[in-house]
Amino acid sequence: MKSSADMRHNNTPEHIAFIMDGNGRWAKKRFLPRVFGHRAGAETVRRVVRLSGEAGVRFLTLYAFSSENWKRPVEEVGFLFGLFKSYMTKEIDALDADNVRVRFIGRREGLPADVCEIMDFAVARTDKNTGLTLILAVNYGSYHEIADAVTRIVREKADYKDPVSAEEIADALQTAEYPAPDLIIRTAGERRLSNFLLWQAAYSELYFTDTLWPDFDRAQFDAALADFDKRERKYGGVIDDV
Ligand code: FPP
Repeated sequence: MKSSADMRHNNTPEHIAFIMDGNGRWAKKRFLPRVFGHRAGAETVRRVVRLSGEAGVRFLTLYAFSSENWKRPVEEVGFLFGLFKSYMTKEIDALDADNVRVRFIGRREGLPADVCEIMDFAVARTDKNTGLTLILAVNYGSYHEIADAVTRIVREKADYKDPVSAEEIADALQTAEYPAPDLIIRTAGERRLSNFLLWQAAYSELYFTDTLWPDFDRAQFDAALADFDKRERKYGGVIDDV
């Protein structure tokens, strides 16, 4: 069977975004504490970054920590940030060598100082790279992102009573410099966006799989891309030849 490395999709998504769900369930199935699922999930992050680069994807966004994830037990939140720091520390050389450019979206306020430091380091270290752009959504939520964008626009407007355009909002979002995701993939069976890229998802193709994030492998990745390849994207218009 052809795989992402040699498969030439007619239509490889330029930007894929993932809602990485199911780490807890993966651990529970094995009678392990939830954090084992997150650790296994970090391995899948490595795998998916590599697969995306091989497939010619230009932008990869991963929902690593949502603005709602603070509701989790404090120990789990601490573990997730620890895992994030160790992933960044261990992977930054390999990411840089693979020409990956690392970026972040989400609110910095509320994040531990050492997490912000490592984020800044990763961005600076990989800033000149021209391959895959890896966008990690950390303390991210669309409600906050859109509210922050509108606040900025209104503050900067000469007359705050002037209407705000969709273009102005898109340009004020943290994702302004990236194309909207072509494909959003959510693992672990849930079929919702959970406050992820709500504005940007207007014309994204959505793909849901029951596979738990730690089990998401090359075959799953290829299946998602093959499914995307069959989609007809009309953006509200019509396809010419029908
Ligand atoms: C959802 O699974 C997963 C998260 C909230 C965290 C995602 C984190 C990782 C994949 C690992 C570290 C990330 C990086 C970037 C190194 P869940 O806990 O909600 O699973 P459940 O729904 O089965 O309980």
